[in-house]
Formats: sequence, C-alpha cells, structure tokens
Amino acid sequence: MNHQPVEGFSKLSKQRKIDWLISEYLSNDRSYEQILQQYWNNDAPLQKMHDEFSENTISNFYMPYGIAPNFLIDGKLLALPMAVEESSVVAAASKAAKFWIDKGGFKTTIINTEKLGHTHFIFKTEAHKLLHFFNFKLKKKLLEATEDITKNMRNRGGGILNIKLIDKTSELEDYFQLKASFDTVDSMGANFINSCLEQFGKTLKEEVANEESFSQEEKDSLQIVMNILSNYTPDCIVRAEVSCNIEDLKDDSGISNEEFAWKFKRAVTIAEIEPYRATTHNKGIMNGVDAVVIATGNDFRATEACAHAYAARNGKYSSLTHCTTDNGIFRFWIDLPISVGVVGGLTNLHPLVKFSLALLGKPSAQELMSILAVSGLAQNFGALRSLVTTGIQKGHMKMHLFNILNQFSATEEEKQHFVTYFKDKTVSHHEVISELEKLRNK
Ligand code: MEV
Repeated sequence: MNHQPVEGFSKLSKQRKIDWLISEYLSNDRSYEQILQQYWNNDAPLQKMHDEFSENTISNFYMPYGIAPNFLIDGKLLALPMAVEESSVVAAASKAAKFWIDKGGFKTTIINTEKLGHTHFIFKTEAHKLLHFFNFKLKKKLLEATEDITKNMRNRGGGILNIKLIDKTSELEDYFQLKASFDTVDSMGANFINSCLEQFGKTLKEEVANEESFSQEEKDSLQIVMNILSNYTPDCIVRAEVSCNIEDLKDDSGISNEEFAWKFKRAVTIAEIEPYRATTHNKGIMNGVDAVVIATGNDFRATEACAHAYAARNGKYSSLTHCTTDNGIFRFWIDLPISVGVVGGLTNLHPLVKFSLALLGKPSAQELMSILAVSGLAQNFGALRSLVTTGIQKGHMKMHLFNILNQFSATEEEKQHFVTYFKDKTVSHHEVISELEKLRNK
C-alpha cells in the first residue's frame, strides 16, 4: 500500500494521531491501540509531563530501572541506578562492585572540567589582520556582549574561561573559528554555551561591520556558518581506577591469580592496538556509563559521541581503559571525557531522575562524572573477567533466560524449573526450547 504524507500531524490530538497511524499503517487493527494504551500512566499530570518531554508522543517507552549496589567509590558506598534493557549489565556491574569492595574500592580523580563551543565562520581576509582585530578589540567585545547571559553562571563559580581565534584556512578556504571554553559548574551547560555562542556570532558580525581596518569587500565576505557547542570535551576528563596486589586478585574460575592478571592485561592491550576489538570493548564500557547517564537524566548520545571521539584522538581508535601489572600490582583504569549535569534539563523534572540523584546523595556534576567513570570501568572489568575465563555467554545467557522463556509465555513454575536446570550449564536458545517441549509434553 502506498502511504500519503500527512499534513499537520503535530497539531492532531493524541487520539487522532493514533487513529491516523492505525488506519494508515496498521490495517485498522485496533489491538495496536491497546499496546500503546497499556503504557500510559494513570496519573494524568505525570503522563502530561512525559508527553511534553518530546513531540508527537503517543505512548511511553519503558526501560528497566535496576540497581547495582556495593560500589565503594572514594570511600563512599553507593548503590548505582541503571536504566538499561540489556540482560546482564546490572548483574555484571554488581559483581564487579563486590569484587573490588574489599580491595579499597574505586578511586577517582577529576583531571579537568572544561567544556567547548565554536562560532564557525568564513571570512575572506588575512589571518594576521583578523588576529590583531581579535586580540585588541573583538575578544573584549565578545565578553562584554555576553555579560548578561553569563551573570548567573559567574555567580555560581563558572562562566566563559577563554576565547581563542583559530585559523583553519589550511583545511578549508577562509574558514576560522572562535573557540571558547566554559566552566558550567553543575550543569551540562548546552543551553548556556549555545546562548553565549549565538551572541558571539552576532557580535562578530556587528564588530566586523564597524571595523575600519577591513575593506567593504572583506566585510561583505563574512558569513557566520554556525554557533554550537562541541560534544567533544577532551579537557573534561575523569579518571577512575582500581588496584590491588596480584596475589589478592582471587578469581573463582580456577585459574591462578598471575594467569588471570596476565590474561586480563593482554585483553586490554589487544583493545589498545586493535580497533575491531576496541569498539566492542568500549561498547561494553558504555553499557555501564550510559545506564547511569540515562538514569540521571543526562544525554547518552552526547556521552557516546564524546567517548568514541576521544578513543580515536591519536588517529587510531583505541581502548578507553588501560592496565598494568608491574611490581606485583594489578592496576586498571579509565580516562573518560564526559560532560554531564545535575541541574537543568530533565534533572528537576523527571521523578525517577530525582530519585536517582537522591539515591546517589545529590552529587555535584564532578561527583557524577566520577560515578559514571566507575560504572564504565566496573562494566569493563566484569566483561573482561568473563571473557578471559569462562566466556561471556554463561553469564549473559543466564540473564537472557527469562527473555527466552517470556517469549514462550512460560509460567512461574516453568521458570523455576529452568533456573534449576541451567544451574551448572550454559543456557542456549536451542536447549531451552527442547526442554520446554519435553516439560510441556509430560
Ligand atoms: C556486550 O554488550 C558487551 C561486551 O561485548 C563487551 C566486551 O566484549 O568487552 C561483553
């Protein structure tokens, strides 16, 4: 069937949107409406708030919200909230937390907290002339013009840290940037940064127009292409680490501590040198990071983009974590670039986000950076520990078992049977089906 474009979809009521979808795409099957409705919240104001988070909303999309307890982070014992749909992520985090709890736990250091943004512009002029104008006039004007926007942030201890003129003309004809760095304190700062940058764009235009040292031709060539923050924040880094004597690295898989340490370190080295492995390795890290990013109302696309750009900063995509085993000490750490907030955005609105932040003891943005890096490191530790010993499927399929059983509408009694059945065996899809058939035919 050929579908027709719809006019004014956003203006239709929720019911009219659903009616249109069901008639246009779902063969008028009203049972689809029930699927949407069963995820509506009975609490009307709560539902309205969720509807208003985004546009054209017709239902809510649930994610499991789990807790990974026993995280000892810089001496504080925390239970991490994790919003994630993938079986075994929360279990792996909890297991890693428990492993490190009696070895001093996780230690973190905030290396720096600078956020960045750019006004990208095209200007047919000589770079030295522009630099002179920037240094002796424009920079001051940019700061003055944004004083109102930065006032509150300055009162909170943040603001614009610096503005530089960057000459990019060797890469793209006549392309320059105003590159600004910001301290956004406890907010992620996207709105603040973008507002400053948009003002930079306007001020740049005005000041160039009034500048006598530029010819009319030069003035006419100025084009502000865009003003936008960068999600790449290589100077907003937190380090999280664990360490212990190799002799204390007790693993229950049967291999010796030394062999475990050696295999673990080798697995990290492979991720450092091999981009194919690094991608999966870092994906596993982001399993832990994103789950807490989402639970605390932050932007996981931003944290993903930043982490992967950083992982490729030396021209080759590589591991975000590192490991050494020198002088009998096992040391494992992550340097994670991450820009998050604990005020603004969803943080004051979404009730579960408020819960998450309260659960974490109302952290500052820097403390949240630490928690996120720990979550990523713990997740990576859990994954590598399984990979270099038992393999990943044993734990993963154990957690996935209920998904398979739910597909076959298994009863609670049947589920219990399978938990016992697979106690000492690796779960496989095939075996679940054949055992379920046997059980049901009995
Ligand atoms: C699965 O979501 C993540 C892992 O593949 C990560 C890894 O291989 O390190 C288990």
